Amino acid sequence: MPNVYHSILIVNDIYYNLKWYPNNGVGTNYRKDLPGPKGVPIFGNLFTFMFKKNTYIELEQEWANKYGSLYTFTIFKSRHVVSNDPQTLEYVLKTNFKNFKRDPAFIETSHDLIGEGIFTVDGSMWKFQRKLISQQFQGRNFKDLAFASVIRKSEIMINHLKKYADSGKLIDLKDLFFRFTIDTFGDLTFGIDFECLSNIDDKAKFVTSFEYAQAVSHERVLQPFRKLIEKYSKKGQRMHEACKYLDDYIYKIINSHRSKLKVEKKPVNNMLTLLMDAVDDNGKKFNDKELRDIILSLIIAEKPIPLYDDIKLFKYTTATFYETLRLYPIVPVNGKVCIKNDVLPNNTPIYAGEYNNLKPNKFKFASFHAGPRTCLGEQLATLEVVILAIMLLKEFKFELASGQKFPPEFKDAMLLQMKDPLMTKVSYRTINS
Ligand code: HEM
Repeated sequence: MPNVYHSILIVNDIYYNLKWYPNNGVGTNYRKDLPGPKGVPIFGNLFTFMFKKNTYIELEQEWANKYGSLYTFTIFKSRHVVSNDPQTLEYVLKTNFKNFKRDPAFIETSHDLIGEGIFTVDGSMWKFQRKLISQQFQGRNFKDLAFASVIRKSEIMINHLKKYADSGKLIDLKDLFFRFTIDTFGDLTFGIDFECLSNIDDKAKFVTSFEYAQAVSHERVLQPFRKLIEKYSKKGQRMHEACKYLDDYIYKIINSHRSKLKVEKKPVNNMLTLLMDAVDDNGKKFNDKELRDIILSLIIAEKPIPLYDDIKLFKYTTATFYETLRLYPIVPVNGKVCIKNDVLPNNTPIYAGEYNNLKPNKFKFASFHAGPRTCLGEQLATLEVVILAIMLLKEFKFELASGQKFPPEFKDAMLLQMKDPLMTKVSYRTINS
């Protein structure tokens, strides 16, 4: 008898769900007021995302072309309202910031990699981390430290490029720039060498593990049965190994820094020292797991490209960098979840629990975002890009190798990344160089 009873309940449930969610995700509000692609019962548009031919960003762009700058879709239990209207960006990121929180799906899927670092926390933990990190970035010595690190690592890049200019061999600039960003960041903030530039012929295991964990964290967003799949798949095992490698690596850095602090007579002024010494309002210091999460979050923040007063003179180089970011924003979508029912500036209601996917607008510069969670690394990023560009272009000419796609294609990833290597021919700008 209980079996019959259960079967009736299940059939009843299916009927109810099909009736109420005929083309939208289960549990989502019906939004007749907004245009958007039709989904299938219960799952909404999940399968369109899972089996898409192009990237997530391209798919959202296709829909924006079809439905306009404000449209909606559902993925299983979540409704997304996509917008790139400048007033909505300003409203959600700044004016009513308190009513829009971090995307819980992002927090959950990236937990293995970045745990409770600045990108995934809200409330008092976020405030505390933000205060500390901005303290470091706005510190008196920071500009000098940053300048010195960028110059040091740019010189290594130049020596490396000379070998390619001499031999005429093609070089993958995408890989080289990535190595440069990671090494500069390690040098500048934690006083460590990730050895990405010194081991140029080998892809450092730290980088491959980091890239792998980042890619899997992103794929998880559209994988409702991911826990089960990862438990029994090779991918799950590789992800586990990659995170374990990163954990061990970072814990080693923390321990050796701690030992160094004990023996050094002079204070070691860098971000790791600042984080280790910081005490919150309850008199508590970060434990090693919290330190690990903050460090890995900052490495994610350090995007693969990035004030010193002098660089302000290079107005056109800086403008070219900003224009590139405006056309290709590195954080292409920012998902926020609405806390209390609200109304967006164009009079569109948004209900509690719905997601607002914000896309930087091509007509308003928002690539570093705005409001209380605006990027803390904008100046560092600008410094890195401008100095590197000046130093490399003074010495070399770069030419795309034949067969390279232009404009390039992008990967499906948390951050906008080129899909293919950037194979380039390097030559000296002057014959005597
Ligand atoms: C071209 C390079 C960069 C771009 C386009 C960029 C863009 C952004 C964007 C859009 C956000 C907001 C993300 C969100 O709320 O989901 C962000 C946050 C952040 N960025 Fe950057 N960023 C860049 C480089 C850097 C660098 C070099 C650092 C320094 C390590 C950095 C540190 C941060 C931090 C700490 C946050 C978190 C702020 C918070 O949540 O309070 N960024 N960045």
